[in-house]
Amino acid sequence: KLRLAVLISGRGSNLQAILDQFGPAIADSPIEIVLVLSNRSDAAGLARAEKAGVRTEVIDHRQFPDRASFDTAMDTRIRAAGAELVALAGFMRLLTDDFIHAWRNRMINIHPALLPALKGLHTHERALNRGLKLHGCTVHFVRPEMDTGPIIAQAAVPVLPDDTPDSLADRVLAAEHQLYPHALRLIAAGKVQVEGEVAKVEQAATSDCLINP
Ligand code: GAR
Repeated sequence: KLRLAVLISGRGSNLQAILDQFGPAIADSPIEIVLVLSNRSDAAGLARAEKAGVRTEVIDHRQFPDRASFDTAMDTRIRAAGAELVALAGFMRLLTDDFIHAWRNRMINIHPALLPALKGLHTHERALNRGLKLHGCTVHFVRPEMDTGPIIAQAAVPVLPDDTPDSLADRVLAAEHQLYPHALRLIAAGKVQVEGEVAKVEQAATSDCLINP
């Protein structure tokens, strides 16, 4: 089993999707979730993990003098839990280059846009302002530059004429909940190799791609 740590800061709906497919209750899961780590003690996702019977820890970034010492504390906890892969799931702290290098090709993130378009925050509002007709989400390996790195999987959703940022966010979020477990399953099956800055993904058929799930 691939030993996974999930890092969260808030609601944890992507964490929930991961727990639903790979949690302790799932027989024959290819993944063992060894730790859910939050930088905020009030993250709603912590209760989701506890309910599923997954170990949680909180490391409050405000207790550390700088990003480097916070990241070192996280790295220590993640390694102590025996994680081989780190999944960022709505983790809203910037990470230091040292931490990112230490987990190179072993740390993934989900971003609510079709990268490389719409890096950063407020992606749904910006998609509407740009008049995009397709929007979506991306799972990628993490690199030091924000929202860059080899792309593992993407899912697209339509932008509809009456969309608001909230209605579009809901549609993208539903796609995220399918895409993140899908990408994790590909990695756990050994179907993802990074060559340079490109992730090569073995997919048997185009139906393995998620388009408007
Ligand atoms: C998700 O939409 C995720 O893509 C986004 O935060 C939300 C977390 O929701 N991540 C980022 O914006 C990363 N910069 P969740 O806590 O319910 O999974």
